[in-house]
Amino acid sequence: MKKILVTGGAGFIGSHVVRRLVTRYPDTQVFNLDKLTYAGNLENLRDVENYSNYRFIKGDILDYPFLKELFHAERFDGVIHLAAESHVDRSLESPATFAITNIVGTINLLQAASDAWKKDYSGHLFYHISTDEVYGSLDHGGYFTETTPVDPRSPYSASKTGSDHFVWAFRHSYGLPAIISRCSNNYGPNHFPEKLIPLMIHNILHGKSLPVYGKGENVRDWLYVEDHAAAIDLIFHKGKAGQIYNIGGNNEWKNIDLVMLLCKIMDEKLNKPAGTSAKLISYVTDRPGHDLRYAIDASKLKSELGWQPAVDFPTGLERTVDWYLSNQDWLNHVTSGAYRDYYERMYHHR
Ligand code: NAD
Ligand code: DAU
Repeated sequence: MKKILVTGGAGFIGSHVVRRLVTRYPDTQVFNLDKLTYAGNLENLRDVENYSNYRFIKGDILDYPFLKELFHAERFDGVIHLAAESHVDRSLESPATFAITNIVGTINLLQAASDAWKKDYSGHLFYHISTDEVYGSLDHGGYFTETTPVDPRSPYSASKTGSDHFVWAFRHSYGLPAIISRCSNNYGPNHFPEKLIPLMIHNILHGKSLPVYGKGENVRDWLYVEDHAAAIDLIFHKGKAGQIYNIGGNNEWKNIDLVMLLCKIMDEKLNKPAGTSAKLISYVTDRPGHDLRYAIDASKLKSELGWQPAVDFPTGLERTVDWYLSNQDWLNHVTSGAYRDYYERMYHHR
C-alpha cells in the first residue's frame, strides 16, 4: 500500500484533503499528523475516522525526534504539508509563533523526509501547501503568476514565504523532490469562525455586529475548499517535481459586497425581512498593513494538468451557509471550546 502523510489534516483545508484521499484511494494509507491546536478539530473527520486506510497521529511538527522516528518507522511515499498557523490577525499579535511553527516546523519535516528518503529519492514527493499571500498585494489590475516575485507583508505571509524558501533550499541542496502550490482564499464547511465568511455567518446567527475592516474595499479571490482539495490531489499525483502551481477561483469580491451578499442569503434562509442582517454591519479599525487585493492566475494548472473549479460561487456560498445552519452543534462546539473533548473521547483509549 502507498503511504501518504498529510500534516494539518484536522484543520479546515486538511480535513477536506484527508477525506478526499481516504475515500478515493482505498489502496493508499493516509496518515493525518496534527497537533490539534485551537484550529484542529477531529469532528471534521468523523465520517472517515473508521476507514481502514485512515490513521490519525497526534503530534507536533516542532518535535524533530518524533518526526524522524515516524518517517523511519512508516516509510512514507509522500508528504502533503498543510500544518501551519493560518490566521493573519493572530500573526499580527504573535509573529514569533508563526515563524516557529511555519518555518521551523517545515524545516523539521523537510529534514525528516530527506533523511528517510536520501538513499533513493525516486518515487517520493514533498508537497508543500503555500498561499497566494506570499506574492504580496495587488492594486486594482493584474494577477499573481508563478513567476511573480514574492513580497510578503504580514508576519503570516512572511512565515509562509520563509517556509517556501526552505522547501526550495532542500530541493536545490539535497535533491529532495518537492512541489509548492499557492492558493487564494478558501471557503466552505468546517472553516474556523475566526475567518471572514464563517465569522459573519456565526455573528448573523447570534445577532452580533459584523466587523468589516476599514471601508470593506479589500478584494479577495474565493475558491470552494473542495476545489482546492481536488487541485491538491491532482498536483500530488500528476504534478512535476520542482514546479510551483497557482490555484485560484477567478472569483474576486470586495469584502463589503461579499458581506452584503451573505446578509441577503441569511435573511432569506432565516425568513427575516430583507435588510435585517445588513443592519448589523459595523465598520471597524482596519487590519494593520491590510493587503488590498489578491488575484490568482491559475492558467498553468489548468493548461498543464487540466484542473478547473467545479463549484461556482453562488452554489458554493449557499452550500456553505446551509452547512453552517445544519451544523450549529459544530459551530457551538468550536466557539465554546467543547470540540477539544472529542479527541479525549475518541482517542484516549486507543
Ligand atoms: P487551519 O488553521 O484551519 O488548520 C491548520 C492545522 O494545522 C490545524 O489542524 C492545526 O492543529 C495544525 N497544526 C498547527 N500547528 C501544528 C503543529 N505544530 N504540528 C502539527 N499540526 C499543527 O488552516 P487552513 O486554513 O486549513 O490552512 C491549511 C494550509 O493551507 C496552511 O498551510 C495555510 O497556510 C494554507 N492556505 C490556506 C488558505 C485558506 O484560505 N485557508 C489558502 C491558501 C493556503
Ligand atoms: O489568500 C489566502 C489566505 O486567505 C490564506 O493563506 C490564509 O490562511 C487565510 O486566513 C486567508 O487570509 P485573509 O486574511 O485573506 O482571510 P480572512 O478571512 O482573515 O480575511 C478576509 C478579508 O476579510 C480580509 O481582507 C480581512 C477582512 N476581514 C476579516 C475578518 C476576520 C474583515 O473585514 N473582518 C473580519 O472580521
